[in-house]
Amino acid sequence: GITRNFSNSTSLNAIKTVTVVGGGLMGSGIAQVAAQAGQNVTIIDLKPESLEKAEKSIQNNLNRVARKAYKDDPAKIEAFVKEASDRIKVSTKIEDGVNVDLIVEAIVERLDVKQELFNKLDQLCPEHTILASNTSSISINEIGAGIKRKDRFGGLHFFNPVPVMRLLEVIKGDHISEETYQTMMAWGKSVGKTCITCKDTPGFVVNRLLGPYSAEALRMYERGDASKEDIDIGMKLGASLPMGPLELADYTGLDTNKFVLQVLYEKTNNPVFKPIDLLEKMVADGKLGIKTGEGFYKYT
Ligand code: CAA
Ligand code: NAD
Repeated sequence: GITRNFSNSTSLNAIKTVTVVGGGLMGSGIAQVAAQAGQNVTIIDLKPESLEKAEKSIQNNLNRVARKAYKDDPAKIEAFVKEASDRIKVSTKIEDGVNVDLIVEAIVERLDVKQELFNKLDQLCPEHTILASNTSSISINEIGAGIKRKDRFGGLHFFNPVPVMRLLEVIKGDHISEETYQTMMAWGKSVGKTCITCKDTPGFVVNRLLGPYSAEALRMYERGDASKEDIDIGMKLGASLPMGPLELADYTGLDTNKFVLQVLYEKTNNPVFKPIDLLEKMVADGKLGIKTGEGFYKYT
């Protein structure tokens, strides 16, 4: 459907149907917030077990949201969860998800795999479909290098956990149209996020600034300046952050952390992003944080 934005008289396509490609940690959260906002959502994943896991985690998180909103009313809780989950369909076939207003890609963080997916989507999707990537660190222009609809393409970078974190970074590739950009901003707002805009620069706003902070925290621990507990308590109580830097690294995953720092180093040459021995070793040893049961801390 078409709605009109009278403030600048650009016509905006209101997003009613969304496909999320990649139903992992981020994709399931993105699907959830869109369904909660009343949009019809399709999740596509190569692996049936990822789709099963996504459906379960969405169900759990919808229940959390509903219990908070309708504390004393089990009927309303059930109705809210059912209504939102009924708007979500899942499939392993990309063809089942192409006929929509917006596609958000949240697959593995690899340039070649993302490019292949976007080239395919560009061929299969109707003219009006907007394509977006949730990449943490790869260049939006490089991801979209092979597509024709460069005016209907950009970055929509969410934060983990998606249902809780209030920010969405809207990334402008070099060829994005004003209409696509405005539609993305309006969509972000419709799913409950505050949107900020950034050019296609390494790490965009948040990861570019979190990177040096995280790297220096790892080096501080590596040097033995303070214990891991004291580094984390320091930043929680002294800078009012919800998690300390080492806890956050465990939460995000040390592999992701390492990858983001690596891309930032390659793209900026800033020595602050140089490889950190401790991080390299922990990743090589499979100590990736919460997801593997051990990182800086142990999780049972
Ligand atoms: N889904 C839905 N709701 C969730 C949730 C999830 N996965 N995890 C937590 N919540 C909700 C809880 O229900 C709770 O809600 P209320 O306060 O409304 O009751 C609220 O969030 C707080 O949760 P908890 O009390 O369980 O725990 P907490 O207070 O320790 O908060 C946290 C958990 C929200 C994760 C918080 O610790 C936090 O904000 N940590 C920092 C996260 C962060 O910085 N993320 C960005 C990482 S960088 C990134 O994502 C970019 C990238 O490209 C890598
Ligand atoms: P994840 O591993 O939890 O999920 C990725 C999912 O994509 C898996 O279920 C996998 O089966 C599926 N997949 C892989 N290749 C596919 C393909 N070609 N087609 C369909 N499905 C495919 O990963 P995640 O943490 O959700 O990250 C996804 C994206 O979001 C990455 O680009 C990552 O950089 C970005 N991101 C991650 C975070 C974070 O904190 N984890 C934050 C912001 C952005």
